[in-house]
Amino acid sequence: MLQGRAVLLGISGGIAAYKSAELARLLIREGCSVQVIMTRSAKKFISPLTMHGLTGRPVYSSLFHDHYRAATAHIELAREPDLAIVAPATANILGKTAMGIADDLLSTVLMAIDLEKCPVILAPSMNVTMLENPAVRGNIHTLEARGFLVADPGRGDLACGEVGKGRMAEPLELLGLIKKRLLGGRDYEGVTVLISAGPTREALDPVRFLTNHSSGKMGYALAGAARDRGANVILVSGPTALEPPWGVRFLPVVTAEEMYKVIMDNLPGTDIIIKAAAVADYRPVEPSGQKIKKAGEMQLKLVRNPDILREISTRKTVQFLVGFAAETENLQENARRKMEEKKLDMIVANDLGQEGAGFNVDTNIVRLLYKDGSVEKIPLMSKIQLSHLILDRIRKHRGTETEK
Ligand code: PMT
Repeated sequence: MLQGRAVLLGISGGIAAYKSAELARLLIREGCSVQVIMTRSAKKFISPLTMHGLTGRPVYSSLFHDHYRAATAHIELAREPDLAIVAPATANILGKTAMGIADDLLSTVLMAIDLEKCPVILAPSMNVTMLENPAVRGNIHTLEARGFLVADPGRGDLACGEVGKGRMAEPLELLGLIKKRLLGGRDYEGVTVLISAGPTREALDPVRFLTNHSSGKMGYALAGAARDRGANVILVSGPTALEPPWGVRFLPVVTAEEMYKVIMDNLPGTDIIIKAAAVADYRPVEPSGQKIKKAGEMQLKLVRNPDILREISTRKTVQFLVGFAAETENLQENARRKMEEKKLDMIVANDLGQEGAGFNVDTNIVRLLYKDGSVEKIPLMSKIQLSHLILDRIRKHRGTETEK
């Protein structure tokens, strides 16, 4: 299926390097040409000879090598592939790529790749504590926000004897990701998707506000996934600590009323609306112009914010409307009620009672409810993976709607 495609396989120094031999074999069997670059540490784990034997090509690992056709070989190596994958990707190569450090061949080639033309998949593999280290998590997040695709590591026995998340995704899974990216990657070409993300802030006074725990991760992941699949993406976001994904039209807002206005202004010409934002339902009636001073008990008077989704459903023409619901109880019933009240085509119900779901985490556990009454239970997965799954389902159900 991948006949004639060129894949760059970067291998960094982790015990999972042995699996990259299997990945190379699978790619060759699919008809790809595979160019391997190994870091110095990778060669301690697997022999370049093995990779050479499997791919039939010289294996590169140094910036300065006699085999190169020119002194700018790193640029040539970055221009040739249709896709690059780093498997395994250690904490070190992730950190260097996120920080813009190019001190060996693999990191330099990764920096010279134009992500618009050549998608890059990173397959992290490391000890669970290393993977959970805030620096590593931050780097992964930065890389995803910049357009790198990160293959979620699996859970299980780790080489160090510990058990947890950190196993490199299996070669067959990586092959699936590569195929999806190279063959079916642009199924949203020409479609405009408006996504809302993050929390809103409702001022109490010049220094305080009402808000919630939304980090924006779910909405930003959806925006990145839709962009990767060729959509024109408009991302309307409340305040978050995230870097806006590249290549999307980014419209920052602060309050629910601002979000309402920006979304309504952008409604015409939009094909799909996905509301992952956690919008404050209420705002203080009259925010104080000065910092409120302490004085015994205090009562806050709040007024309802506009319900953006409900308003969209009264104004929408052809748009496919997807809402989110974050529930602590009666997940399905509450989500179904919201879907009916707001006349949605589909709702994504986050199960807040479960670890790894909902606010401010990189993963989610959800149920997808559809207008036709059907429900799908989706197990724990990364918000990126979930975003692709949601986009797959939107395509399927939107297709049925348009046929009616
Ligand atoms: O940002 P993260 O940290 O990644 O977390 C993701 C998330 C948990 C915030 C997200 O997945 C999510 O569930 N968002 C919706 C949160 C919620 O419970 O919303 P709600 O029940 O208040 O509203 C239901 C739907 O109506 C949502 O699509 C919301 O965007 C929309 N809404 C709500 C209120 C309002 N005034 N206007 C709206 O449009």
